[in-house]
Amino acid sequence: MVSWKLAFGLSLSAQAFVQGVTIHHVPGQDPFAATTATAAAAAYTGAAAYDPTTLTPPPVPTNLNKNFQLSVIPGGVPGLSIKVPGRFFGFSVEMSVVEHLFGKNSTFIQVPFLNLMANILSRSGSFMIRVGGNTQETAEVTHDFDAFPNGRVMEKDLSGVTNPTQTPPLLITPGYLALLGNISSLMNIDWYLGIPFFDVANLKLDIVELGQQYLGKHLIGIEVGNEPDFYVSHGHRAEGYGPPNYVDEFGQVVSAMNNDANAANRKLLIGPNVDLNWNIQDVWDTGFVDRYNENLVALAVERSVLHLSFLIFNQCRLGRYPTDNCFAQFGSGTPRNAQDEFPKYLTHQSGQDMAGPYLASTAFAQTKGKPFLMFETNTASCGGFAGISDVFGAALWAVDYAMTMAHSNFSGIMFHFGGQNVFYNPFTPPPTNQSAFHQWTVGPIYYSALVVAEAIGSSGNAQVIDLVANGGELLTPAYAIYENGQPVRMLLVNFVDDPSGNSDITASISVGGGQTGVPGATPASVKVKYLRAGSVSQKGNYTWAGQTWGDHFFSDGRPVGEEQIETVNCDQNAGVCNIPVHAPSVALVFLSDDAQTENNGQPSTTFATTARTKTFNTASVDDAVLATSNGDKDAGSKLGSTSKGSANTAQGISAHLPGLSVVLSLALGAVILSGKRW
Ligand SMILES: *[C@@H]1O[C@H](CO)[C@@H](O)[C@H](O)[C@H]1NC(C)=O
Ligand SMILES: *[C@@H]1O[C@H](CO)[C@@H](O)[C@H](O)[C@H]1NC(C)=O
Ligand SMILES: *[C@@H]1O[C@H](CO)[C@@H](O)[C@H](O)[C@H]1NC(C)=O
Ligand SMILES: *[C@@H]1O[C@H](CO)[C@@H](O)[C@H](O)[C@H]1NC(C)=O
Ligand SMILES: *[C@@H]1O[C@H](CO)[C@@H](O)[C@H](O)[C@H]1NC(C)=O
Repeated sequence: MVSWKLAFGLSLSAQAFVQGVTIHHVPGQDPFAATTATAAAAAYTGAAAYDPTTLTPPPVPTNLNKNFQLSVIPGGVPGLSIKVPGRFFGFSVEMSVVEHLFGKNSTFIQVPFLNLMANILSRSGSFMIRVGGNTQETAEVTHDFDAFPNGRVMEKDLSGVTNPTQTPPLLITPGYLALLGNISSLMNIDWYLGIPFFDVANLKLDIVELGQQYLGKHLIGIEVGNEPDFYVSHGHRAEGYGPPNYVDEFGQVVSAMNNDANAANRKLLIGPNVDLNWNIQDVWDTGFVDRYNENLVALAVERSVLHLSFLIFNQCRLGRYPTDNCFAQFGSGTPRNAQDEFPKYLTHQSGQDMAGPYLASTAFAQTKGKPFLMFETNTASCGGFAGISDVFGAALWAVDYAMTMAHSNFSGIMFHFGGQNVFYNPFTPPPTNQSAFHQWTVGPIYYSALVVAEAIGSSGNAQVIDLVANGGELLTPAYAIYENGQPVRMLLVNFVDDPSGNSDITASISVGGGQTGVPGATPASVKVKYLRAGSVSQKGNYTWAGQTWGDHFFSDGRPVGEEQIETVNCDQNAGVCNIPVHAPSVALVFLSDDAQTENNGQPSTTFATTARTKTFNTASVDDAVLATSNGDKDAGSKLGSTSKGSANTAQGISAHLPGLSVVLSLALGAVILSGKRW
């Protein structure tokens, strides 16, 4: 064991920050601060989140069929998914990352975070975030609000590190839940919380109690056990621990909640949260779902970011990530050349491979009336790949993957966040000590979240189908979104990278079964929004309907640029609308004006900042704006948008309501809410 400890230490000091170990292995209190790895701090721009590596796009295919028909038929078609909630595309956040991503405490919330979420919420109406992961297993609650200095709500107790995965016990105050609660009081975000499950004999339900107290109806699930199928290899259970043992232990949580008046046992529990190490069918075969039917709100699977001890002793596993980058990070597993891996993401095959193993489980979940969730996923384990996870290709990949999961009857998919030391974050705050002069970095997966939110919409009635477009061509998948039996939107992807325009495709869409000469069968025109960039290798500056969040350290969370919605005139005689899909891009086609305004007729409420100097930005926000920002379509301000370098970037936020004033201080990267009623 001595030798592996040595290896562990070396691995951390040499590689942790520059290359990307998952956050809970980082030997520091602050995963977003560049304070614990001097090399990374000095070479700041070399930190994983800002790695400049770009790869060569795959070659242009020579035999691509560039014109094809797609037909969508009113009245519905066989194979439509179950109804997909607006909040389908969610985020997964390691418990230890919360403070850096969301804010220091309940009165100190990150403005860019709120803005980024507001943009999605204006499209989806609701959003879900899972807060959990490895750190949930050792999380402890102190009931002293003021346990930590400077108003902080969490600390990692490194002296208490005893477990083989070196996950530091996490200590949180009730303020941690108050922080999440106050976010939900500003916007319609729902939460899944992970609870400690290592020590079943001494179950602690504080997180359930405080979660119910502070989150109320916004607490939508409790995750019982984080990858229990890896408990044995991580030394948390004895050899032989398997699905029946997990299922019995789950019962102890049920009983404990029944015996705890403050953890009122609503139908909130979620299991089995397994990775690939068990056959999930073995879990269903225990009778798990029937046994706890009254307590289970959903079923879930996940794939946690790589465990370091596991890496040292075992082959790197792929799990719910398409592949891994473990060899480069840790010298373990299969050596992978990112350049060779890149094309594997730029195809519909990837999403199909991710969804495929679960089709039996999503069908099973339907028979039991339970939603089926992917709790954690992203481009690759071991922090992702530079040049894959952080480029436009990943945006295309995540759109296609998420749509495939919707088609496959998942009810949610949550993309994971690490710290500065991973490549795949949907967005990344600057390191703490650089927040005065750097803004946030918005990654490709964030754009995917916007696109999928808009494709699925907020109705809760969306049903998705993979159209097996272009003869099943994997480079040009397409989906239709139905509501109440009517096709309302279509989403088309072109994975090909060909700036010449020669690989642009044209999908000839016929609505109404392509009936010609039938009045009303084909609309006169349709609206189209594009997700675009110059290349699949481009890093930053992608555009969704013409708006961007820039590149590294650029964004305060608000979109830059005017929204561009294109109108494509249809040929009503021929009964088709010819939709160009650039190579590379995603096109979202709105088959009626309603289908478009449903999602984005309503501007998003954003939280403005007025740039005063490079290092000090302040603005004020009125209570009414905050109060109406919970995904509410009646919020009144103009779609917040800002141009970098303009004299005054504040928009849409002016009036003040008596009794509450809110000061935003971007210098601190946070919104400071000062008022009695918070
Ligand atoms: C941030 O902190 C690190 C470590 O203390 C230091 O090396 C670095 O210079 C700091 N950066 C700034 C801009 O203060
Ligand atoms: C939140 O943190 C700020 C800054 O440290 C502090 O001033 C404030 O009192 C804290 N709020 C709470 C509710 O602890
Ligand atoms: C928001 O934060 C304040 C200060 O900590 C707290 O008093 C209030 O209860 C919080 N609101 C919610 C909904 O958690
Ligand atoms: C999704 O569920 C629907 C309704 O049960 C079913 O018709 C469809 O085949 C399922 N899709 C897949 C890909 O399993
Ligand atoms: C993003 O756009 C800005 C402004 O046009 C430009 O300065 C920057 O170089 C661009 N970055 C990338 C990665 O294209």
